[in-house]
Amino acid sequence: MKKLYIETLGCQMNKSDSERIAGILSHFGYCETDIEKEADLLIVNTCSIRQLSADKAYSKLGVWGKRKKTRPSLKIAICGCVAQQDKEKVRQRAPYVDLVFGTHNIYQLPELIKRIENDEKICAITATPVICNQNDFKILRKDSVNAWIPIIEGCNNFCTYCVVPFTRGRERSRNPEEIITEAKNIIKEGFKEITLLGQNVDSYGKDLHNPDITLANLLRDINKIEGEFRIRFVTSYPSDITDDLIDAVEECDKVCKYFHIPMQSGNSRILSEMNRRYTKSEYYEIVSKIRKRFPDVAITSDFIAGFPGETEEEFLDTLKAIDELELDYSNTAAYSPREFTKAGKMTDKFLPEDIKYERLERLNEKNREACLKSNEKFIGKILTVLVESKTQKDGKTILNSRADNNKIVHFEDDTKNTGDFAKVKITRAQTWCLYGVPIE
Ligand code: SAH
Ligand code: SF4
Ligand code: F3S
Repeated sequence: MKKLYIETLGCQMNKSDSERIAGILSHFGYCETDIEKEADLLIVNTCSIRQLSADKAYSKLGVWGKRKKTRPSLKIAICGCVAQQDKEKVRQRAPYVDLVFGTHNIYQLPELIKRIENDEKICAITATPVICNQNDFKILRKDSVNAWIPIIEGCNNFCTYCVVPFTRGRERSRNPEEIITEAKNIIKEGFKEITLLGQNVDSYGKDLHNPDITLANLLRDINKIEGEFRIRFVTSYPSDITDDLIDAVEECDKVCKYFHIPMQSGNSRILSEMNRRYTKSEYYEIVSKIRKRFPDVAITSDFIAGFPGETEEEFLDTLKAIDELELDYSNTAAYSPREFTKAGKMTDKFLPEDIKYERLERLNEKNREACLKSNEKFIGKILTVLVESKTQKDGKTILNSRADNNKIVHFEDDTKNTGDFAKVKITRAQTWCLYGVPIE
């Protein structure tokens, strides 16, 4: 067996792709290793959402290129969003790379791998995806409790700051039968959680032109699979969350009462500049509708600080939104200009770096405050959790688990194991996690 090492940067979609890449290559004599230095084939699966993420990809290649000088038989590949975006440019920067393959070309690997083994140098980036039945290949999942299923790839939204439509292409939904087969296999293999993935999960099915194929119906179908497990879905686009989806979340006992709905900014002018298809008050309405239905729901978001032309007052609307909406957690970032995007061309409106980072710092502070406040609401409540791992501390077994609403919960218990469900009464809250005691 030859050894394969994959370095995965970026979002869950990339993590899921890496599991599929390792699975495909396992059919061709490669087994995965965690030790970079042992590998015969090195792959970096890249992210280009911000400049910093793209820089990481090239610095990894730089290190590997040096290693190849002393071991010429070593093969180096780059894939993911930077590869899709930079195409042949990758090789100008890193000529020693053997294979560049795009986000649409994963299922071409059986052919590509044979060619690089014959010392060919290849750049395989197509604008249209290579489609196949993903269930024909193994998937080497990293986690033993949660399994990811990508249900829709790509994005049609073209938010002005975002590179994803250029790196992942237009929306393409997998057919529901294939997804349900994958879900059934996952449950048979003993996984306890399924996370349905998409840059816009709630757009699922729109491109398949059958009104019955929706995220809501997919949740209903997966919910019917027998077994003790739970279902999550990320990421939701605010104005695409339908009443039918909210109904489905309510009806389906296995679906977690958790929504990740990036707001990006708390100011309607900035939202419009971002080409987000909702206003501040429309976002407020969606959150209030969900909170009314599910009392213990957690709603998390993403925000960008320092979008081109954002004024101090407009930024303050974002801080206010986090407070008023009682958001449970937010991912935050300083605006980073990206190639091809509309906002990337608004150079005359770019804010100085120090202002962007000072706003990001205040945004992070607000987020910490909001998280603690949100966590404190759960003291005294009983949450159903799924154990993700175990640690030993001072002779005690501490279980690290996640509640239905995605909150991290630690508790002491000798009787439970990774993959078990438990009921825990919350006794203490910190900014990033909860502590509790198991109840029978
Ligand atoms: N599809 C999801 C998010 C995908 S990207 C959505 O619509 O929200 C993940 C997050 O990265 C985004 O929510 C956004 O907050 C952040 N992001 C995207 N482009 C960015 C940029 N150019 N600079 C800073 N943050 C960015
Ligand atoms: Fe990017 Fe917007 Fe698409 Fe999300 S919805 S992936 S932020 S373009
Ligand atoms: Fe990054 Fe591509 Fe995901 S740009 S965030 S890895 S879709």
